[in-house]
Amino acid sequence: MKLQDVVALVTGSASGLGRATAERLHRGGAKVVICDLPQSQGAEIAKALGEGALFAPTDVTSEADVTAALDAGKAAFGRDVNVVVNCAGIAVAARTVTRKGPHDLGQFLKVLNVNVGGSFNTMRLAAARLSETEALAGGERGVFINTASVAAYDGQIGQAAYSASKGAIVGMTLPIARDLAGFGIRVCTIAPGLFRTPMLAGLPEQVQNELSKMVPFPSRLGDPDEYGHLAQHIIENAMLNGEVIRLDGALRMPPK
Ligand SMILES: NC(=O)c1ccc[n+]([C@@H]2O[C@H](COP(=O)([O-])OP(=O)(O)OC[C@H]3O[C@@H](n4cnc5c(N)ncnc54)[C@H](O)[C@@H]3O)[C@@H](O)[C@H]2O)c1
Repeated sequence: MKLQDVVALVTGSASGLGRATAERLHRGGAKVVICDLPQSQGAEIAKALGEGALFAPTDVTSEADVTAALDAGKAAFGRDVNVVVNCAGIAVAARTVTRKGPHDLGQFLKVLNVNVGGSFNTMRLAAARLSETEALAGGERGVFINTASVAAYDGQIGQAAYSASKGAIVGMTLPIARDLAGFGIRVCTIAPGLFRTPMLAGLPEQVQNELSKMVPFPSRLGDPDEYGHLAQHIIENAMLNGEVIRLDGALRMPPK
């Protein structure tokens, strides 16, 4: 799919990987719906991008919010959202059990709800609309990109909830790609290693250097635009479907 034909809903795009992706797609000629929580910087980011961008305050776990974001995209850009990039996500660090007691179950389920439920929610609602649209050249109607993590494979101590959520995203990639193949909608997942987003950029420089050394090559934190670059490639390369791509410089996380 060419970026000029794209109306992209990018979740979590008020920050980090989502923001870099929205900015890159917009630079390439796509229309973008900046989809993030109401209290986020989404409005400022959309304003800075200008024409071809809008902010839709959204909790990705809400059917009403995602429906409103899809409506807003169609109203502004005259076409249904045909690309979804799911970058909204949360993480907790908690062991399964400590001397203080077991892992909080509500916290575990919240991470699953936002990371897995939220990603599925945007895809199912966008797909329902796209399935009724006219296909582009080659029979394509849309591309959905999810964000897992290397924690789906090498989860560290304290990452039970986060790794479970990212493993679920890996696991649902192929079945959703199969479900949507008949509609000409592709589904891929990116599993990033360590990227310089606000979360990691806030760590002391020494910690960032130590994390960088764990990456075989290149031994540095990833630039969020490198994530956006892969998202762009997935959109443009019609043979990529049902696949999970690690983007990690050969990083394999140790237990802690
Ligand atoms: N940064 C990394 O190194 C890294 C590595 C592996 C995976 N990831 C994954 O990539 C994704 C993006 O990470 P990031 O580093 O850019 O994080 P980030 O915290 O900078 O951005 C995440 C965004 O998601 C939004 N968000 C959270 N809950 C939401 C909800 N319910 N509805 C809508 N928006 C919501 C936040 O407001 C925030 O703007 C996450 O899924 C994360 O797990 C990041």
